[in-house]
Amino acid sequence: MIIAVDGPAASGKGTIARALARHYHLPHLDTGLLYRAVAATVLREDLKPEREADAVASCGFDDLLLADEYLRTDEVGQVASVVSAHPLVRAALLQRQKRFALQPGGAILDGRDIGTVIAPNADAKLFVKATPTIRAQRRHAELKKHGVMVSLNKVLADIRARDERDTKRSEAPLLAAPDAAVLDTSFLSIESAVQKAIEFVEKQRAARATG
Ligand code: CDP
Ligand code: CDP
Repeated sequence: MIIAVDGPAASGKGTIARALARHYHLPHLDTGLLYRAVAATVLREDLKPEREADAVASCGFDDLLLADEYLRTDEVGQVASVVSAHPLVRAALLQRQKRFALQPGGAILDGRDIGTVIAPNADAKLFVKATPTIRAQRRHAELKKHGVMVSLNKVLADIRARDERDTKRSEAPLLAAPDAAVLDTSFLSIESAVQKAIEFVEKQRAARATG
């Protein structure tokens, strides 16, 4: 079984994908980390994220980088959304994600284009969303927990800027696949969101089984 989970920043897609991976005993790939690793490499090498050639040159990053906490910072997230808009960067990371999706036994991936580009034939697709304000509040709380002091307004502005870049790009823009179940987590606890996600997956599996 392949499960695709897409959605904007701090919508809760990672939390839901990890919970589904545990529930269904599936390996999970957070595809945002790949773009974040490219971004971190661009920053480290003092390259220009807007230049496609610079971003492409950073796609051969060392996998050890994927475990680096620095990747989760907002600075890296912003640059990730710049490098991810380059078609050649997306092409460089495509096969790795497809291989992960198609491994025997199934997989779950979360990102922006899993249901539309990486695994268009996924058995279940979820598009997780929440209002920008609520997503900013969640990110803000996370940052505070990690001792990062930044205003809620700044976090909201960063989220809006990233949403704008991710939805407006011409290559694999952030959008719900036509056959994805939309899950609005704005007013759901994590437990209720996960419960709803499992229900959606079960519904889609049942619909597929009966053709
Ligand atoms: O992966 P994504 O950026 O979409 O979001 P996440 O990392 O799963 O969730 C962002 C934050 O929101 C985390 O701190 C979650 O615990 C929290 N969250 C929440 O408060 N309520 C939900 N229904 C889902 C996530
Ligand atoms: O966790 P959060 O939603 O904040 O970000 P992420 O999933 O780590 O993604 C960081 C950036 O990578 C996004 O803003 C997108 O620009 C890009 N990305 C993408 O283009 N395609 C994906 N499948 C995953 C991430």
